[in-house]
Amino acid sequence: MVRAHLITYGCQMNEYDTHLVESQLVSLGADLVDSIDEADFVLVNTCAVRGKPVDKVRSLLGNLRQQKAKRGLVIGMMGCLAQLEEGQQIARKFEVDVLLGPGSLLDIGAALESNTRFWGLQFKDELHDHIPPAPVGRLQAHLTIMRGCDHHCTYCIVPTTRGPQVSRTPGSILRELDGLLAAGVREVTLLGQNVNAYGIDQGARITGIPSFAELLRLVGQSGIERIKFTTSHPMNFTEDVAAAMAETPAVCEFVHLPVQSGSNTVLRRMAREYTREKYLEHIAQIRRHMPGAVLATDIIVGFPGETEGEFQQTLDLYDEVGYDSAYMFIYSARPGTPSYRHFADLPREVKTERLQRLIVKQKDWSQRRNAGKVGTVQNVLLRGDAHEAGFLEGHSRGNHPVVVPKALGADTAGIYSVKIAHATPHMLYGQIVGPDGEALPELPRLLPEAAAVSSPLVMV
Ligand code: SAH
Ligand code: SF4
Ligand code: F3S
Repeated sequence: MVRAHLITYGCQMNEYDTHLVESQLVSLGADLVDSIDEADFVLVNTCAVRGKPVDKVRSLLGNLRQQKAKRGLVIGMMGCLAQLEEGQQIARKFEVDVLLGPGSLLDIGAALESNTRFWGLQFKDELHDHIPPAPVGRLQAHLTIMRGCDHHCTYCIVPTTRGPQVSRTPGSILRELDGLLAAGVREVTLLGQNVNAYGIDQGARITGIPSFAELLRLVGQSGIERIKFTTSHPMNFTEDVAAAMAETPAVCEFVHLPVQSGSNTVLRRMAREYTREKYLEHIAQIRRHMPGAVLATDIIVGFPGETEGEFQQTLDLYDEVGYDSAYMFIYSARPGTPSYRHFADLPREVKTERLQRLIVKQKDWSQRRNAGKVGTVQNVLLRGDAHEAGFLEGHSRGNHPVVVPKALGADTAGIYSVKIAHATPHMLYGQIVGPDGEALPELPRLLPEAAAVSSPLVMV
């Protein structure tokens, strides 16, 4: 029996795919093990979106190659990097045995059996409506509703690695959701590179395919308690999505709407297909429908040719929106993208200095936004034990990480009302409260003295 261990880099779509391949391996009789040392097959699910995740894969494969020489470990590589020439060169260099592109995940069995390098790089139709078994013992799950991307942002490698957009049928999405519900899942995150464009690719093929807003309403009727989704492209965001979110109680009031830049000239060079003004209109629509919406974004600093004035516009837009949180990236020139071919990269120091300034702004806004939650009662899905003994950790509907001390009557994973007592830019701390808003009695806390002094948890 093969003992397999999977390691995942990259986004939530990769996490979903890892789970899918794990379930394929199990159905083929493999045993999943928790570490490289216990495994005789290690499969690395890779990301190619920036240089850093590629470097990480390189160094991991370096270690794995040593283990291969020592004890005959079989090395596999899947995910976005596997689809690229760059990744295939890396695979040759590090003596990868099995290589699977993101469209051929169901070929894992054939790949292992062939016992030679398997370049499974064709996109297979049956993958799109494949339903992996529900995860066991988890309250949260991902559900991929579409694969690929039809946009051509000039910096982005994803359309090359994952191919054109293909939406799953609503029937198959709802069947997968039923399985998740039966397994006890209470929060689902709908995944796609651009979920707002759901269905557009299938319009001519499947009559009556819902729009993303309609899909939200459908999923909202399934009985699942919390629905999140990621990612949204502003170009395809419609007011109906904001309306569907507001009128569907299960849909969480959290929107991750990547802006990338606040400058129209940079947005044009990125081929983002919207303007700063259009983007701000979407934000206004979201706020009109959901005044308390929590807003997150992605920003790339140092896109080729970005002037100080253009960067300043990003900082100004940040203030105009007042985001709750942001993922901030230094532009990384990816071979194979239009911006790599056509534009010169800015000096590293310019990019890192701008990132520093943006981080200051992000921290400042996150602190302000989170401080505004102090005193409120949040609906929090607590996943399980936090690092500190005696505490649970989880997420609010607005996607804030939350930590609470365990309380008598509520000391395990579940969805609870939590009264927020303290906030940092990255975390909310609170106490589980009963239906009457009264705090439940805390279990005795066993935090060592020193930890209590240095940890912000002491503020709870
Ligand atoms: N489909 C999603 C994004 C997927 S990639 C969307 O369009 O929102 C996640 C984020 O990585 C992007 O939003 C972008 O901010 C960042 N990113 C993508 N390519 C990048 C590059 N070449 N350099 C730096 N950041 C990049
Ligand atoms: Fe990349 Fe743009 Fe597609 Fe997102 S929308 S995956 S950034 S090409
Ligand atoms: Fe990375 Fe592929 Fe996701 S490039 S961000 S793993 S879509």
